[in-house]
Amino acid sequence: MIEEYVGNLQKFLKNRHPETLLILGSGLGRLADDILDKQVVSYQDLGFPASTVSGHAGNLIIGRLGAKEVACMQGRFHLYEGYKPELIKEVIAAFAAVGIKELIVTNAAGSLRADMPAGSLMLIKDHINLSGKNPLIGPNDERFGPRFPDMSNAYDKVLSSRLLDIAAEQGIKIYEGTYLMVLGPTFETPAEVRAFGILGADAVGMSTVPEVIAAVYAGMKVLGVSVITNLGTGLQQKTQSHAETLAQADGAAVKLARLLKMYMEEK
Ligand code: HPA
Repeated sequence: MIEEYVGNLQKFLKNRHPETLLILGSGLGRLADDILDKQVVSYQDLGFPASTVSGHAGNLIIGRLGAKEVACMQGRFHLYEGYKPELIKEVIAAFAAVGIKELIVTNAAGSLRADMPAGSLMLIKDHINLSGKNPLIGPNDERFGPRFPDMSNAYDKVLSSRLLDIAAEQGIKIYEGTYLMVLGPTFETPAEVRAFGILGADAVGMSTVPEVIAAVYAGMKVLGVSVITNLGTGLQQKTQSHAETLAQADGAAVKLARLLKMYMEEK
């Protein structure tokens, strides 16, 4: 499967050589609006399965963002959609094989801290994988990565501090914290939200961790940002909904777009 994805990606990329892969979270599709000289291909044409969630387009875009070439996944594969975890390893390993060196991963997440409100941005410093799944389960092909990857520095400190510097320069407030992944698709119960806070997490969501594991496996550097779309269950009066996630993501996406564009101007 990896070889097939590599072949399809190479056919699409031709003589373009992006070294950064950007994955856009729920409701963050508009971040792709800033990409110039775009070429777009559907996941279907790359042999990837189609993405099934509203707010996730299912396209790969290549183009220029800031000063650099970027490949952008507009739509991701959530495990709650029923995809096999290894699909994520295969897709990410294929991107690594065609020259991607850096993954910028974004998501919509619920806050586990009353002092980090909806509309906030949070730099992901580390994660807790509570999904019960791992994209590396199964036989390992050593050509793509090691059997037992080290996760001590999954989120690259240099890339992270560069993003924090740019945010400070631009006057964009950004929190820092630990992202906890649940499998979903149910939102959390109030007891789960209390438990996750005690475990040391700051935000909760249903994605990102498999992609980051696969990226570390494949030797990429990772930068992660959550858009906080709601307070965790029990920390707010409202009930949870995907519609609210999309609405809040849309507002914060403007800030995140500015930040990522500036980030891509550097180096
Ligand atoms: N929980 C899980 N995933 C989410 C949330 C949440 O509260 N908000 C956005 N994605």
